[in-house]
Amino acid sequence: MTLGPADTREPAEILSTGDRATWSVTAPSILTPRRRPPDRVAFGMVRTLFDRPRWLEPCHLYDERGSLLFEEICELPEYYTTRTEAAILEREAGTLMSLAPVECIVELGAGFSKKTVHLLKALSRARGRGTFAAVDVSATALMASRSMAEELFPELAFTGLEARFEDAITSITPDIPKLVVFLGSTIGNFTPTDMLHFFTHLCDHMGPEDYLLLGVDRIKEPEIIERAYNDSRGVTAAFILNAFTNVTRATGAGFRPEKITYRSSYSRARERVEMYGIATETHRVEFPRHSASFVWEKGEGILVETSRKFDPDDLQVLLRSFGLESLGHWTDPKRWFSLLLFRRTAPSGGMEPK
Ligand code: TRP
Repeated sequence: MTLGPADTREPAEILSTGDRATWSVTAPSILTPRRRPPDRVAFGMVRTLFDRPRWLEPCHLYDERGSLLFEEICELPEYYTTRTEAAILEREAGTLMSLAPVECIVELGAGFSKKTVHLLKALSRARGRGTFAAVDVSATALMASRSMAEELFPELAFTGLEARFEDAITSITPDIPKLVVFLGSTIGNFTPTDMLHFFTHLCDHMGPEDYLLLGVDRIKEPEIIERAYNDSRGVTAAFILNAFTNVTRATGAGFRPEKITYRSSYSRARERVEMYGIATETHRVEFPRHSASFVWEKGEGILVETSRKFDPDDLQVLLRSFGLESLGHWTDPKRWFSLLLFRRTAPSGGMEPK
């Protein structure tokens, strides 16, 4: 695909010079890594489904239907997170952009970038120009982000990176000072180990003048949290169960939607919501491409998604150990959600005693 006449800006500028050749343009202003191992989905899936307890990687949630269902979740009355975070962002965007005086915003897991509008507005107002790079595994989400950015912020250069976080983080240039934005408590969807790997990798690739804005959902009464992940209209259930449809389509796995139901619960011990597909009857699931199968016992759960809740003070302590210095913390009147701003002060290994 070639760039249209409107795309005279160079979308690859956000990437390190040495890495540009490893990305290709898939749609106007949208790039994706060239060397995507073709069978990563199939192998990844077999590794997690033949583990115990069985689980699936959250990236299977976000095909076009999944991305649209996710947008619907964000509007649900029970799902307080999105609107709580959006209100804090709207209130504080000007302050945030003055504390992080950059011209470039990189949003990880951008989705449709609806909340980011507040930051882009503040960026545009303060500097009159700049760059917005949206990173997401969903092409649907990136196209929605691109339309929004082109319509509302023609003065900002847009680049969409259709990629996993680690691929984007590796290739984004450290030479442009930027604000890395990671909203929606997406960090809470990582396992504890993946979260630590994520911060190590991110901090290793952040430049000396980079900032991080993190949006995290806080520990609160379990009833409020449980309701948010088990809505009365069943949108969350449809979103989670869609992962089984996606792996079936991508790999020929023999999941049968009519034999899977949704269940979620909040674990106080782990401070996280756990979202499962549960077999409603015992049946065999075949993986023809791998000459493998397993018996899915009635009542056995396959963990599809987790959503961890945070104590913002603990998180600040943790991130200090990665060389991220806290510049501020903003919350809502009920203290349900927090926005945390950090500046990178030292490489992530820089905490050893001198
Ligand atoms: N990160 C958000 C959260 O944990 C959004 C999200 C990710 C989500 N996966 C989800 C919401 C699954 C509901 C269900 O709340």
